[in-house]
Amino acid sequence: MQNIILSQEQIQEICKNIGGKICQELHNEDKIPLFVGVLKGSLNFMMDLMKHINIPIYTDYVQISSYQGMNRSNEVKLIKDLSFNCKGRTVIIVEDIVDTGHSMKFLLETIKAHNPKRILTVALFNKEKARVVDVKVDFVGYELVDNTFLIGYGLDYNEMERNVPYVYGATYEDLERLNLTLDKDLGRIK
Ligand code: IMP
Ligand code: MG
Repeated sequence: MQNIILSQEQIQEICKNIGGKICQELHNEDKIPLFVGVLKGSLNFMMDLMKHINIPIYTDYVQISSYQGMNRSNEVKLIKDLSFNCKGRTVIIVEDIVDTGHSMKFLLETIKAHNPKRILTVALFNKEKARVVDVKVDFVGYELVDNTFLIGYGLDYNEMERNVPYVYGATYEDLERLNLTLDKDLGRIK
């Protein structure tokens, strides 16, 4: 039995709820707001969230990297910067999870350099307890009370299982199963 944290239905409910709140916040913008999805983890959330945004928006994507397996690294690298000009616009950064906060801090600095009007942040998950650097998350889907490693719906373990349509907390058995799949893929075992 998997330790389900958010079912598909719960995810849709959260997207509807946050989408409504964001629309309220953005109903009076001079310029069309820009939603920025953070690849690859936020792609699933971004797609579902946008279905509930009923005002004109633009979209763009940035890509960063910081994680290897379950080991956190403080070094965040920019793989793809913004392509869209966000000068004078409100930017909404869409993240899968804010954990230590290093990635979000880096994203805020990176996007600030493009001179937006203001930056709002939204994350499906917030691991407040794991926070190392202080960053604001304006809209949170689900507050995690512990440090469970999450997999599914964009969240990966060594790039695997982003396609799982719900989110589960990884158990020792889950990690064993995934490591076995990885070893086979890499030709370490037959
Ligand atoms: P932070 O820089 O420590 O806040 O980490 C943020 C990034 O690490 C997220 O955007 C995720 O891509 C990844 N991450 C953090 N926690 C988890 C998790 O529980 N499962 C999968 N990825 C995670
Ligand atoms: Mg991410």
